[in-house]
Amino acid sequence: MYPSTRLRRTRQADWSRRLVQEKTLTVNDLIWSVVVSDTADPVEPVAAMPGVERLSLKALATAAKDAEMLGIPAIALFPHIDPSKKDDEGSEALNPDGLIPRAIKTIKDAAPNVGVICDVALDPFTTHGHDGLLDGDYVANDATVEMLVGQALLQAESGCDVVAPSDMMDGRIGVIREALESHGHHNTMILSYAAKYASGFYGPYREAIGSAAALKGDKKTYQMDPANAAEALREVELDIAEGADMVMVKPGLPYLDIVHALTENFAVPVYAFQVSGEYAMIQAGAQNGWIDGERVMLESLMSFKRAGASGIITYFAPRAARALGA
Ligand code: PBG
Repeated sequence: MYPSTRLRRTRQADWSRRLVQEKTLTVNDLIWSVVVSDTADPVEPVAAMPGVERLSLKALATAAKDAEMLGIPAIALFPHIDPSKKDDEGSEALNPDGLIPRAIKTIKDAAPNVGVICDVALDPFTTHGHDGLLDGDYVANDATVEMLVGQALLQAESGCDVVAPSDMMDGRIGVIREALESHGHHNTMILSYAAKYASGFYGPYREAIGSAAALKGDKKTYQMDPANAAEALREVELDIAEGADMVMVKPGLPYLDIVHALTENFAVPVYAFQVSGEYAMIQAGAQNGWIDGERVMLESLMSFKRAGASGIITYFAPRAARALGA
């Protein structure tokens, strides 16, 4: 009791604050989300994400070298697909000479020690902007899973280290794991977007990959209801049983309770995705002079560590790495 207990004692100086600090944020916690494009221009700005650009393959090579130099462990790739290559089935996702296979090779050539993580989902490739194949208005589960298996195998064959299904179809982790095993990709990791919510925070991303105008309806029949927490535990339990090596919660900051619940309940690495809308809000506030952007960036990233996350996928990765002294 006060006054024998004064919690401010350990806060009085920098040295004692450092000594009692419970969590640390380092460059090892960062996964850099990068949008690639088949453009001839070196880079194209994304209006809703100040500071983020769609990178050409040439610019991607430079970015990969930057990541290696900064010590960022891995890059997560997201493609902006030329509208002329999109169709209802997202068949461009299976093109061995497509943008993602070339982007994987570009990173591996430029920076062999940087891990490559690829999104497994059809939305960048479909005219309707959904993550799977449509049967009327409904995204058909099993037919979509078949496509996703082909997409994941192509990524693994192209040198991708971690396939990351972000589609939320039922059963896809088990089927992808089996296909990877039977094709000799025993060491390809699966990072499952296990608890992915139907969220308004993805808005700027859909502009970045060019699927915003295309998207018909919403994704509520496959992504989770923001009201649900217990269901996230069931999703994760299934994905671990099916062979996921790591799981992800998405979006990040509004779902810190889910991050924490997963780390308390499962012995599996849990990642949080600080998504496009979270990035955009911090940047917008900072650009208006309403918040200190640098400070809020680091505070938001630290909050994921406090909640128990093993790491964070973030558009801030290079900036955060520099701020952390890399
Ligand atoms: C879709 C996908 C989305 C994001 C990554 N993969 C958006 C969606 O589900 O519509 C969002 C990333 C972000 O907002 O930064 N497979």
